[in-house]
Amino acid sequence: MKQKLFAANWKLNKGPKETKSFFEEFLPLLPQESQAQIVFFVPATNLESTAQLLSQTKIHFGAQNCYSQLNGAFTGEISAQIIKEIGARYILLGHSERRQIFKESDEFIALKGKLVQSLGLIPMLCIGETLEERDAGKTEKICEAQLVSFMKSIDLKKDWVVAYEPIWAIGTGRTATTQQVSETHAQIKKLIQREGGSSQTLILYGGSVKPENSKELLAIAEVDGFLVGGASLDPHSFSKICL
Ligand code: PGA
Repeated sequence: MKQKLFAANWKLNKGPKETKSFFEEFLPLLPQESQAQIVFFVPATNLESTAQLLSQTKIHFGAQNCYSQLNGAFTGEISAQIIKEIGARYILLGHSERRQIFKESDEFIALKGKLVQSLGLIPMLCIGETLEERDAGKTEKICEAQLVSFMKSIDLKKDWVVAYEPIWAIGTGRTATTQQVSETHAQIKKLIQREGGSSQTLILYGGSVKPENSKELLAIAEVDGFLVGGASLDPHSFSKICL
């Protein structure tokens, strides 16, 4: 059985001070024997303090985005090389907020995926459809386009993770039904294998995951863990999801 992965996406929340108080509360809530793999995607400005706070733990951390080149005249961008130097293991790519607000294309995200892997870091690719697309029966086609362009660019023998996040379920309190999650995850799994990927690639679910629905969602065979936004900002909520 695959080991479950629980990822926190803090988005544009918490500075170094709040990060410190979060981990002071969160770490004692995890049982010593816990086998859960946990990753925190913190704002880039907190990577350094997060590295220090987690240095004695097995918990990983990562950035929420990076640029498609390692260095150069790209004012304001964040380099995967620097993220690596701080000690991060993962980089989140193609979150729907990056796609929708910052107009990131599949091609641009795919370039980043290749770069992230070339540094030995693990890209976590977010994919998912809008409500209109789901209602129009286009969920599988949308996931396919987002997945295939990424998979063509990365090295499928190296690690990478997928997070399926229906956009209509993000931050809305509206979770996809277990049937919708199970069906879409199964389609994603099939697509990955069709494109030459591994059956072992982790497929996480994201979108209004909270302690009240996490057990039911985790019981779905094709769900290998979660990407959690809102509920990961509270140490008690997120620790309950990780247990
Ligand atoms: P949410 O966010 O858990 O607040 O819905 C998930 C995400 O955007 O990754």
